[in-house]
Amino acid sequence: MITNTELEYKGNLYPSNITAYKKEVDKVSFYTENNVTLTITILRDSVLRFRYATEEGFEPDFSYAIDKNATYGFNHLEVKEEETAYILKTAKLVVTINKKDLRVSIADTKGRVINEDELGFHWEESYLYGGNIVKMSKDAQESESYYAMGDKPSQLNLRGKRIENWNTDQYAFGKDHNPLYKAVPFYVGLHHKTAYGIFFDNTFRTHFDFCHERRNVTSFWADGGEMNYYFIYGPKVSEVVQGYTDLTGKPELPPLWTLGFHQCKWSYYPESRVKEVTKKFRDLKIPCDGIYLDIDYMDQFRCFTWNKEYFPDPKRMVDELLEDGFKTIAIIDPGIKIDKDYWVYQQAVENDYFCKRADGPYMKGKVWPGECNFPDFTNPEVRDWWAGLYKELIAEIGVRGIWNDMNEPAVMEVPGKTFPDDVRHNYDGHPCSHRKAHNIYGMQMARATYEGMRKYTFPKRPFVITRAAYSGAQRFTSSWTGDNVATWEHLWIANIQVQRMCMSGMSFTGSDIGGFAEQPSGELFLRWIQLGIFHPFCRVHSSGDHGDQEPWSFDIEVTDITRKFIELRYKLLPYLYTMFWEYMTDGVPMLKSLMYYDQEDQHTHYRNDEFIFGNHILVCPILEPNAKGRRMYLPRGKWYNFWTNDLLSGGKETWVEADIDQVPVFVKEGAIVPNYPVQQYVGEKELKELTLHVYYAEGTEISKVYEDAGDGYDYKKGRYSLRKFRLTGRENQLIIQQFKEGKYETPYKKLKLVLHGLPFNVKSIYLDNAQIPLKDVKMNGDKTMIIPKNFTEIHIIGEQQ
Ligand code: GLC
Repeated sequence: MITNTELEYKGNLYPSNITAYKKEVDKVSFYTENNVTLTITILRDSVLRFRYATEEGFEPDFSYAIDKNATYGFNHLEVKEEETAYILKTAKLVVTINKKDLRVSIADTKGRVINEDELGFHWEESYLYGGNIVKMSKDAQESESYYAMGDKPSQLNLRGKRIENWNTDQYAFGKDHNPLYKAVPFYVGLHHKTAYGIFFDNTFRTHFDFCHERRNVTSFWADGGEMNYYFIYGPKVSEVVQGYTDLTGKPELPPLWTLGFHQCKWSYYPESRVKEVTKKFRDLKIPCDGIYLDIDYMDQFRCFTWNKEYFPDPKRMVDELLEDGFKTIAIIDPGIKIDKDYWVYQQAVENDYFCKRADGPYMKGKVWPGECNFPDFTNPEVRDWWAGLYKELIAEIGVRGIWNDMNEPAVMEVPGKTFPDDVRHNYDGHPCSHRKAHNIYGMQMARATYEGMRKYTFPKRPFVITRAAYSGAQRFTSSWTGDNVATWEHLWIANIQVQRMCMSGMSFTGSDIGGFAEQPSGELFLRWIQLGIFHPFCRVHSSGDHGDQEPWSFDIEVTDITRKFIELRYKLLPYLYTMFWEYMTDGVPMLKSLMYYDQEDQHTHYRNDEFIFGNHILVCPILEPNAKGRRMYLPRGKWYNFWTNDLLSGGKETWVEADIDQVPVFVKEGAIVPNYPVQQYVGEKELKELTLHVYYAEGTEISKVYEDAGDGYDYKKGRYSLRKFRLTGRENQLIIQQFKEGKYETPYKKLKLVLHGLPFNVKSIYLDNAQIPLKDVKMNGDKTMIIPKNFTEIHIIGEQQ
């Protein structure tokens, strides 16, 4: 029902009545009297694409977001004409398209409405730029909640918020601030225990209003381009997120070391300072794998050059760091200094690779080096050239990771902090202005970087990190959340942002631990470390305009507790790597917000702080100073306190002790959590055994451990090891079955089982059906056992304590 006269007054136009329709193999199109076309494409029974055109018809079909490996195929498509509507049915969805006004309602096969147009598609002609401002409005369903949307620093449930996507260099942003660095126009709606997702694949500036302007209406619109959105049906949140990730792509496995700890600062230089920092890590025995070179390694901030005064022999330095287990990651920004004597600048000019203004001159803007021009990363030829520029840095010098920054793109000293709208882009053969290319500029830069890294680091795996991104960037790169601040509020924001990114298909994300701007107290730094070690990407970074921000920059207590938590991350490496493998294969987010974990439990819909790390570990950061603990929500099920082994029942709030050397961590009963020994860097030690922490439960639980060589591509040829464990607990019995897959031979021969919460004394043990003498396997009373790694079943029989 169109009631909002104000909207009409603003010059909105609406589709009129349907006059014809056409069905093709996987598409159904509807045509209205006033020349609007709606084409619904069926990608899967549960994934539909809605695309609207006005008079001028559709644009060429092109997307940077959609992955070429996305899954297609459906079982059923049927279209029926009724008196007032067309009914389109797949095996999972029923879509009603109103004949009078093209409005759409989507229901499940039981007739329950999942999502329904309010005004539906409407548009406004853009007299300034041409084309349309395209709009969509939907009825909010009763008690509907909204999630995802990339890096937005607002409460997880976005109901009541308005969001804007326009990649922006937002130094020291705050809570609820937007736009930020990334554009992920994807949200999850959840109501009546049912979830769906909408991905509005439009790279122009986009806006989402979740019941902010009008209490019962959710709308989204873009400053140009097409109304082109994908509807992804759950009913589980996990199915929506996995469906979205399938559509926009999954990453390959990163090198295992990238899941270790990273230390960064703006900037570590000269070489002696870099060495001083890395040596201190080793001297203090704080594990670390990644060391970063920020812009000062360059000569006059010119990309692909070295300041030879600070770094006289980069290759020697990088090699020496590597001998000590440190992988060097170097920053590369998009701005190329305007300098006639600089080879990168010369090549770009010779080949016409820089972005141009509408009237012909190069786009010029100030960044770190002063005035710069900017490669047009939306041009495939430019991307190839850019990839090639990495040869020396990676193949010759041995840098192991590239950090792409300022790629929103950021421009200094101009009001919009970026390119003007008229800048031209190739957009892979679909020439356009910056209005359309802005939000994918950073992603295309990271993509070009990834191609270069992949080529020159081969047979090792590439590692790229980016600040700006658009949907699908996860195929090429990890990311961090930009220039945050050393405040308690930003610790809350970091927790939100990383959870939200995980739900937006981009799990490999972290924040600048400790805060980029300003100075954290030792306590804040520690609380941030206690959260950061549970983030997929774990890096300390700071602006360097205040004191130092290394684990030893505070007092000895902070150093010791930081070490303890970084060590915990290194112990959990096989668990983290398995999380990544699940993300890579099935698009499962590495962190799961509570509403993702248990959508049926309404209590979870407004929770922000607690999250599930992987599948079995519940974490709740301490977000306030002077805390000795906190109240938190334990989701349904039973949970072992990680520190005390106490078993608690969830489905309620509870007080959890967590003095400065602890953070609330729980393990789901029945879980088997793999551990490696503490190493100072990945691969330091030859693994003698894999430790499995077994948390007894009555009932059954599945756990997995994925391993491979930790680098290279052999895993793609089947050289990986996947252990699936099924734990079954009964009265006086614990049975663990192992199912093995893959051709990779892990270096260790034995598994060390550490049993938690065993409610009985061990009487006898059967290993693959043969009873074995207790003294052969048991250590440390009934708590620990050593068994051969390739067992099929271990059966532990007990008697009452
Ligand atoms: C930007 C980045 C920051 C980096 C700095 C200097 O502010 O976000 O991480 O240290 O530029 O390169």
